[in-house]
Amino acid sequence: MCGIVGYIGKRDVAPLLLEGLQRLEYRGYDSAGIVVNTPKSPALKVVKAKGRVRELESRVPKRFAGTTGIAHTRWATHGAPSDINSHPHLDADNNVAVVHNGIVDNADELRAKLVADGIVFISETDTEVITHLIARSQADTLEEKVREAVKVIEGTYGIAVMHADFPDRIVVARNGSPVVLGIGEKEMFVASDVAALVAHTRQIVTLNDGEMATLKADDFRTYTTSGATTTATPETVEWEAASYDMGGHDTYMHKEISEQADAVDRVLRGRIDDRFNTVHLGGLNLDPREARGIRRVKILGCGTSYHAGMIGAGLIESLARIPADAEPASEFRYRNPVVDPDTLYIAVSQSGETYDVLAAVQELKRKGARVLGVVNVVGSAIAREADGGVYVHAGPEVCVVSTKCFTNTVVAFALLAVHLGRIRDLSVTDGKRIIEGLRKLPAQIQEILETEEDIKKLAAEYAEAKSMMFIGRVRGYPVALEASLKLKEISYIHAEAYPASELKHGPLALIEPAMPTVAIVPDDDLLEKNRAALEEIKARSGRILAVAHREQEKADHTILVPKNEDELDPILMGIPLQLLAYHTALALGRDIDKPRNLAKSVTVE
Ligand code: M6R
Repeated sequence: MCGIVGYIGKRDVAPLLLEGLQRLEYRGYDSAGIVVNTPKSPALKVVKAKGRVRELESRVPKRFAGTTGIAHTRWATHGAPSDINSHPHLDADNNVAVVHNGIVDNADELRAKLVADGIVFISETDTEVITHLIARSQADTLEEKVREAVKVIEGTYGIAVMHADFPDRIVVARNGSPVVLGIGEKEMFVASDVAALVAHTRQIVTLNDGEMATLKADDFRTYTTSGATTTATPETVEWEAASYDMGGHDTYMHKEISEQADAVDRVLRGRIDDRFNTVHLGGLNLDPREARGIRRVKILGCGTSYHAGMIGAGLIESLARIPADAEPASEFRYRNPVVDPDTLYIAVSQSGETYDVLAAVQELKRKGARVLGVVNVVGSAIAREADGGVYVHAGPEVCVVSTKCFTNTVVAFALLAVHLGRIRDLSVTDGKRIIEGLRKLPAQIQEILETEEDIKKLAAEYAEAKSMMFIGRVRGYPVALEASLKLKEISYIHAEAYPASELKHGPLALIEPAMPTVAIVPDDDLLEKNRAALEEIKARSGRILAVAHREQEKADHTILVPKNEDELDPILMGIPLQLLAYHTALALGRDIDKPRNLAKSVTVE
C-alpha cells in the first residue's frame, strides 16, 4: 500500500527519493509523487504522476536540484488514481507539502469547515485536509503547526511534512501507519518501510503511535503529539540491501520460493534444546507457570497468515494438547468476541502491519487479553503491540504473494507447539521425534525444489483450466486453502478449497473433466479416507493431481513429496503447490510479483 520516503542532508535528493520509491514498489500503488526544496522561488517544487515510479522519473525535470525532499507512492482510497490525487499535497501558496499513509476518517467534516473558510481544494483526497490545516496554522514552529493539525485528525496517519519557511527540517508524525527514521552521517532519512532505507543506513528508529520527530541533516529528535520529549535509541536492522534484490531470479516470487530451505534453517537456528528435547523462544515473555495455565489458544491472521495460523492451531492442539483454532482477524474484530483471560491470543502477520490484525490486537489488549505475535518484520506495529512473540526470520518478502513467510510461520508454530507441549504433556520421546523432523525440513525442502521442472510441465497441462478444486482433510485442509489462494492470486484462475470430507455435501456437483482437483494425500492415518475421496472424483470423470508420499493410482498425476512426521507434513506439501501456482501464472503471462488489485501490506481497512 502507500509508501513514504524522505531525505535531508547534502546529497542531491531527487535520485535518492526515486530509488527509495522503487524499493517500495512491491507494496502496491497506483501513482507516485515527489517534492524537493530547491534554492529558487517557489522553493517547493513538485512532480506527480499516475502510474509507475518510472513514469514519475520521466517527468522529473533535469533541473530539480535540492537536498531536502519527500516522496510517496499512493494506493487510492479517497479519489481515483490520478496526477492530482497523487501525493505530495501542497497548499495554494506552495508553502506546505505533505505525504500521508493511512486514512483521515473525519476528512469530509474537516474539508467542509475549511471550504466554508474559503479554502479551495484541488484534489479529492483526505490528505489535502492535513496540508491546509498545517498551512493555515498561526503557530510559530513547524512542529507546533503539525501538532495542531494532527490533534483534529481522526483516523490513521504516517505523515512527512516540509515547509518553505522551515527549510532545515522535515517533521513526521505517526498514528497507526508505520514511520521509520534512518539515521545517517550528517544526513537523515524517513520511510514507511525499512526497505527504502537499508541501501543507505541500517541504523533505524521506529516511531510509536502518538509520536512525532523532527529531522535535520545532522540531528533528529522525537516527542509526543503533546510535545513531551521521548527517548529514541537507534537499532540496527538485520536485513541488508542485497536481500531486497532479485538475486538472479526472474521474479521475487521465484527467488522467495527458492530460498525456503535457508529460511527454515534460520527460523530453527539457536532455538532447539537437545538436552530437554524442547525449544527455547527468547521473546515469548511467558513463564512455564503461565504456559500451564492456558486453557485455549486463538490464532488471528489474514490471508496466507490465517492459513498458516490454521496449521499452527492444529500443531498446538496435537502437540501441546491445548484446544486451539484460527480465525480471520478481519472477522474477529467485528463480532464483539468474548475475551477470555485464560485464552492465549496469537496474532500472525508477515508484515506486522496488516490493519485488520493490528486492530484485533489493540481490541484484545484493551480488554486485558494476553497477545503474542508471530511476525516476520522485526519492530513492526504488531510485534511492538504484542506482549511477546516469535519472529519467523524469513528475511524480507517482496513479492505480493507470500511463500517463504508461510512456510517459516508454520515452522515457527511448530516450535511454539513443542515449547508449550514440553511444558505440558508432550513426552520426551515425542519432543525428540518432532525436533528430528524439524531438522530434516531444510534438506527435504531442497529435494522438493529440485523437482521444479516436473512441476512446470504439470502446470502447462493444468493452466488451461478455468476453475480448479483443492481438497485436503484435517491437516491437509489449510494446505488446500493456501494452495488455492496462491493460484487465484497470481494466475487469476478461479479456485475453490474444501475439506475432502465435505465433497459429497455439495461441491461434488462441480466435478467434471473441465474442473481438475488438486488433492492433498499424506501417508497418515487418513490415507484411506483421502483415497475414497479420489474414487468419488474419478467416478465423476474428474481429473486429479495428487500431492502425496506415494503414487496415487486414482490420480492422473502425483507430485511426490518426502515424508516427515505426520504433524509436519503440511509444511512440505504446500511447497510444490507454490511452484504449481507460479508456473501456471507464468504460462498465462501474468505479472507475478504484482498481481492485479493486490498490495503487499494492507494497512487500511
Ligand atoms: O502481512 P500479513 O501476513 O499480515 O498479510 C496478510 C495477507 O494480506 C497476506 O497474507 C495476503 O493474503 C497475501 N497476498 C497472500 O499471498
